[in-house]
Amino acid sequence: MESIKLDISKAAQFLNPGAVEAYAPHVAAAQEALEKATCPGNDFLGWLHLPSSITPEFLGQIQTVADTLREKCEVVVVAGIGGSYLGARAVIEALGNSFAWLVNDKKNPTILFAGNNIGEDYLAELTAYLKGKKFGVINISKSGTTTETALAFRLLKKQCEDQLGKEAAREVIVAITDEHKGAARAAATKEGYKTFIIPDNVGGRFSVLTPVGLLPIAVAGFDVKKLVEGAQQMEKETANDVPFASNIAARYAAVRQGLYSQAGKKIEIVANFQPKLHFFAEWWKQLYGESEGKDHKGIFPAACDFTTDLHSMGQWIQQGERSIFETVISVEQPDAKLLFPHDDENLDGLNFLEGKRVDEVNKMAELGTRLAHVDGGVPNIRISVPALNEYYLGQLIYFFEKACGISGLVQEVNPFNQPGVEAYKKNMFALLNKPGYEAESKAIQERLTKEK
Ligand code: PA5
Repeated sequence: MESIKLDISKAAQFLNPGAVEAYAPHVAAAQEALEKATCPGNDFLGWLHLPSSITPEFLGQIQTVADTLREKCEVVVVAGIGGSYLGARAVIEALGNSFAWLVNDKKNPTILFAGNNIGEDYLAELTAYLKGKKFGVINISKSGTTTETALAFRLLKKQCEDQLGKEAAREVIVAITDEHKGAARAAATKEGYKTFIIPDNVGGRFSVLTPVGLLPIAVAGFDVKKLVEGAQQMEKETANDVPFASNIAARYAAVRQGLYSQAGKKIEIVANFQPKLHFFAEWWKQLYGESEGKDHKGIFPAACDFTTDLHSMGQWIQQGERSIFETVISVEQPDAKLLFPHDDENLDGLNFLEGKRVDEVNKMAELGTRLAHVDGGVPNIRISVPALNEYYLGQLIYFFEKACGISGLVQEVNPFNQPGVEAYKKNMFALLNKPGYEAESKAIQERLTKEK
């Protein structure tokens, strides 16, 4: 099997000669700190050797529960937010049919997502869609107390029980949560749901290779064994004893740091030329945003879908403020083969493309974009992926995780916490008069009165 490849040549040219290599000692120190667990956030390093610790027995347990849901449900709703949501969606959307919700193939249940927003219309429309359908729920929350997820789960649980009866509902509701703590654990124990544990030492955004990602991906009909094999391969290829010159996680971390601190590139745009990768970029945004954005530091992670966004953000990227660099995820071989047909009249003038694959045009769009953006002062990192399948997605996931851990440490932040996420929650709970927030409620009301 091949591996994903990294090309940083068109980014390194924006730095002084040797600048990337000069980061090798910093990167090595970060790698060692991860390995020896001497870094900040060292109680959240369970992801580091997670792929190689996954056993066939464990994957068998995931598959058994997935098969039950696949057999009993036409729709499965995955409730979760942030790290308890994005990884599963990234893989499912990357591998699935782009029109999955329209193509009822009967083989696979439709996978829907909830608990990742508080949109009343969204939830009302979801519950309306589920009316009369055989649906199951995977409730995912490490803390077990996240408001968005808990709200959605309360609605879904009631609807599932109303439609199926409590006994049958119990067979199609699965909880993935902390081993002991939290409301999701308490509910699962009381109701007797099947459960999986999110390990204590794996933070949300690093949890896609735990049941958080694996169960929904298996329910959707994808091969989690291959996904894990890909991640295992990348764990080896990015291990500390792999020299800097060929360690793609180390090099990606180094070039990002150079662009950020030496070339003033504060924004990284992850771009794809395959719409199926939209949610993969959403997952990446969360991984890097929550890991690096703290202590008033951090590269801002953005994402674009090309060529779509070349007709919106393309202008800004080409000629706007020169504070960006691009990381393009390029898929070498699409799954399908679609050729441009001949047209006798050639009214659209496209006969020069006759017989060519659509992907050939896409690849020229990619190359043309790369040349234009580099000419316009945008450093370009290219990650090429042989094909969109479970194996290479597993590689990509682990590659980005490893590079993220290294990057955060090189930037001298704790990549494994997210204290900033609490600020909005505290205000929301105070505004909603949540029991236990009486003092905050009083203070916030006084502030709002003053600001009127
Ligand atoms: O990466 C993280 O830790 C967060 O994004 C969490 O995954 C997110 O806030 C959801 O938390 P929980 O799983 O506790 O509901």
